[in-house]
Amino acid sequence: MSSLRLGDTAPDFTADTSMGTLNFYDYLEDSWGILFSHPADFTPVCTTELGTAAKFKDEFDARNVRMMALSVDDQNSHSAWIKDIEETQHTKVNFPIIADVDRRVADLYDMIHPNADDTLTVRSVFIIGPDKKIKLILTYPASTGRNFYELLRVVDSLQLTSYHKVATPANWEKGHDVVVSPSIPTPEAHQLFPAGVEEIKPYLRMTPDPRE
Ligand code: BEZ
Repeated sequence: MSSLRLGDTAPDFTADTSMGTLNFYDYLEDSWGILFSHPADFTPVCTTELGTAAKFKDEFDARNVRMMALSVDDQNSHSAWIKDIEETQHTKVNFPIIADVDRRVADLYDMIHPNADDTLTVRSVFIIGPDKKIKLILTYPASTGRNFYELLRVVDSLQLTSYHKVATPANWEKGHDVVVSPSIPTPEAHQLFPAGVEEIKPYLRMTPDPRE
């Protein structure tokens, strides 16, 4: 068990999944990745989450993000549960679910929090960059389903801020104004962002989303 932090290299692994044996790095290639765990198969919140993730796949594809889910149940359980997800959520489960029966990957990513539950994984999310570094970690309890709009929003922010010298303010959405990185002097900011820089305070400079 290790405690992973932002900026750490995402551990590689090879695991049985609902789409066969996969090596994580080979699966990701040069894409971004989302690895997310859920507590158990045949549970209501998880059923809605995996159905929602499947419906969001086109949006993640458009952002060059590949998803991989995990639970500590086995392959047969996953296969039967996927049928239920497809029936009840009206979608096709179009990404792999790791059958982490021996909890090897869950331990590698510290997805079991014993004071919450001894055996089941919490709802962890790891967003991994093309450089295989961990860019974001989220942890939700079993009782709270995740918001996949927020995952898309955060991917938009991570991708924008990794290619431009900006940061995204509270409740930012794609297309809204962004903050000029504090390390950029204002004269340089005017050159870098020809669409305009508004200096509200010397440390608070706004500019239009440079991708728009
Ligand atoms: C659920 O996915 O619905 C769930 C799983 C474990 C505990 C509580 C809820």
